[in-house]
Amino acid sequence: MARKFFVGGNFKMNGTVSSVKEIVNNLNNAQLDPNVETVIAPPAIYLLPVREHLKNKQVEVAAQNVSDKPNGAFTGEISVSQLKDSGVHWTILGHSERRTIFTETDETVASKTKYATDNGVSVIWCCGESLEERESGKTLEVIAKQLSALKKEISDWSKIVIAYEPIWAIGTGKVASTQQAQEVHASIRQWLKKEVSDKVSDETRILYGGSVSEKNCKELSKEADIDGFLVGGASLKPAFVDIINSKL
Ligand code: G3H
Repeated sequence: MARKFFVGGNFKMNGTVSSVKEIVNNLNNAQLDPNVETVIAPPAIYLLPVREHLKNKQVEVAAQNVSDKPNGAFTGEISVSQLKDSGVHWTILGHSERRTIFTETDETVASKTKYATDNGVSVIWCCGESLEERESGKTLEVIAKQLSALKKEISDWSKIVIAYEPIWAIGTGKVASTQQAQEVHASIRQWLKKEVSDKVSDETRILYGGSVSEKNCKELSKEADIDGFLVGGASLKPAFVDIINSKL
């Protein structure tokens, strides 16, 4: 089955009412490749206005994180049912900034992913190694450990898109080479084949994230196992449209 190209924009904790509106206007006025699924993840406070102002139905909205608890006394959290009530059907989970700065473990991320997907919210599930782990040859081991924790919780993989984001490439301008990225993507696909099923391996989109720009996206998008991107910094700029259109 052909996998639909997917481009996510992670605004992180950036933006203002007016700058976010400008990004949405830019997407509304752009000609986007109709064969690309696009999802943008503004900070939680802007989710609803962004969803309401988006005219292009091809572009969906994602949260950057969500709780694995039902509604209740969890100050500062947002629930899966609140996302759905707001027409938000996607969330990012396990971003390396959540894992490292907010100490989310593989198990926490897996539990949140289970709760979201079981309750109808699709997940851009992130994984990736640090520079130290890469330099000591542990890249695949780290990713396999992250995937194994996920596998323990998940039976339905159809609501999961995997984003491979080497931590050393995030926000640094140091993009992984197409060969480095393709190598890890192919190993993730191989892992899915061996540990889950041929079908999940064939159908799951694997995105690359880490200093993706309008300059490097075309080359990366040609690789067999790169099914799209999770874009940080460049998703705040007009060049995000060029990244969405990288296959054209
Ligand atoms: O979620 C996005 C990634 O962390 C990549 O961020 O494109 O700014 O390097 P970046």
